[in-house]
Amino acid sequence: MNRVSVIIEGIMSETQTNLETLANLAKRRGFVFQASELYGGIAGFWDYGPYGVELMNNLKASWWQFFIRRQPDVVGIDGAIIQSPKLWKASGHVDGFNDPLVEDIVTHKRYRADHLAGVDSNDIAKLTELLKDKKSPDGNALGPVRTFNMMFKTFVGALEDEESTAYLRPETAGAIFANYKNVLDTARVKVPFGIGQIGKAFRNEISPRDFIFRVRELEQFEIEYFTAPEQAEEVLTRYRNLYDEWFAQIGLDKSKLEWRQLDPESRAHYSADNWDIEYKYFGGEPKELGGIANRTDYDLSHHGEASGRDLRYFDPERGEHFLPHVIEPTMGAGRLLLAVLDSAYHEEEVKGEKRIVLKFAPEIAPVKVAILPLSKKPELSSLARKVYNDLVRSTGYNIEYDETQSIGKRYRRQDEIGTPYCVTVDFDSLEDGCVTVRNRDSMEQTRVKIEELLQHIAL
Ligand code: GAP
Repeated sequence: MNRVSVIIEGIMSETQTNLETLANLAKRRGFVFQASELYGGIAGFWDYGPYGVELMNNLKASWWQFFIRRQPDVVGIDGAIIQSPKLWKASGHVDGFNDPLVEDIVTHKRYRADHLAGVDSNDIAKLTELLKDKKSPDGNALGPVRTFNMMFKTFVGALEDEESTAYLRPETAGAIFANYKNVLDTARVKVPFGIGQIGKAFRNEISPRDFIFRVRELEQFEIEYFTAPEQAEEVLTRYRNLYDEWFAQIGLDKSKLEWRQLDPESRAHYSADNWDIEYKYFGGEPKELGGIANRTDYDLSHHGEASGRDLRYFDPERGEHFLPHVIEPTMGAGRLLLAVLDSAYHEEEVKGEKRIVLKFAPEIAPVKVAILPLSKKPELSSLARKVYNDLVRSTGYNIEYDETQSIGKRYRRQDEIGTPYCVTVDFDSLEDGCVTVRNRDSMEQTRVKIEELLQHIAL
C-alpha cells in the first residue's frame, strides 16, 4: 500500500440542518419518498427508497446484533401484526389508546388538542380550560375537546361486523407479552430475561407531521425485560448505558442526545419510572427519540387476568411464585433514521465549492464502496467489473458500480449518500495492478494494490 498524495483538505463549516434540507436530500438521493406520491400522497405514510432501505436494514441489523445476539439474557421474536382483539382490550388500548382531538368548526380540520394547548397532557377537562379562548391555526373557533382512539380497525374473515373487528397493532409490545410464557417454556431463559422485536406498528395519528418524525405507519425496536421487582431500576439504568454505547457506535451526535426523566404527571398511570431519550433534531428543541419505562407488573397482571392463565414465574432459589416486573426500552425506527441523517449531514467548502456529505458510521452506510472506472473504455470496464465482482463476493457489502458522468460528479454523488470509500480504476491500473481509494471524510486518496484493497477498506 502506498500513500501518494493528499488532494484537498475539506474546510469544515458549521452545519445546521433543517427539516426541509434533510427531506429534500432524502428524496433527491432516494432515501425516502412520500407514499403514493403519484396520486398526490397519503398523509403519514412514507416509502423507503434504495438507499433508505439499505440504511434502515443496517440500523436494524446493528440493533439486533447489539441488543439481542450480544446479550446472553435476551432473545428475539417476530409477532403477527394482527392479534386477537382481546389482547388489545386487556392491554388497555381499546379503551384508552386515545389522543385528545379538537376540530375547527369552519374548516373541519382536526388538531391534537394537547399540541394546540402546548402541554403534554391527555386530561380533557384541563385541555378544555386551556383552549377555551383559543382559535384554530386558521383563526376560527374550535369545537369541544374529544378523545379519539388511534388504533386502525380492520375485519378478519368474510363478515364485516363487530365480531370480526380486529386492529392493526399500535405497538409491537403486545405480541411479546402474549408470548412471554411460550418463550419461557421453550427457550433457554429464566427470569431475569428479555424478549426483543423489530416490527411495524400503526397509529391513526390526528396530525402526522415533520416528515418521518410523526407517522401513521411506523416501525419500533422494542424490548420487554422481565425481572424481579427489586432489580427493575438497576435494569433500567443498565439499558440507558447500553443505549449510550450503541448510539456512539452508530454515529449519533452525542451533543444532541439527552436523557430526561419524566415527572409523575406525564407518565402512564402504571409506570413507576420513565426516561425519554431525546434528540435535538435540526438543532432545535429536544424531541422524543425513544424511551425506557418501568411498567411494573401491569402488563403481565392484566394479560394473566384477561386470559385466565397464571403468568407468575416460579423462582427455584426463593422457592416462590411471583409476577415479574417489566422494563421496556422502546424506540421508533424512523425517528432513529432521521436522527442518524441529522448527525451525519455536513456541508463543507472545498476549493470554493460546497460539498454535502453524509458521514455515516461505515457499519450503517447504505453503500460501503463505489467502484468508479475513470472511463468507459472496455479494457477499464472489464478490470473495474472484476474488482467489483470480487469485492461483492468476498464481503457481501452493498457496493455500487458507476461509470457515468465526470469523476468529480460521481464523488459528489457518493458523498451525498455517505459512501465511505470510492475506488477509481484508471489506465495505470492496467499496468501496475493498483487502484486509487478515496476516503469520504478526509478526501485523502491512496494508491493501493488490488489484492490489498479489502484490507485497506476494512469496515
Ligand atoms: N410499547 C411502548 C410504546 O409503544 P410509545 O412511546 O407510544 O411507547 C415508542 O412509542 C416509540 O415509538 C416512541 O418513542 C417513538 O420513537 C415511536 N413512535 C411512537 N409513535 C410514533 C409515530 N406516530 N411516528 C413515529 N414514531 C412513533
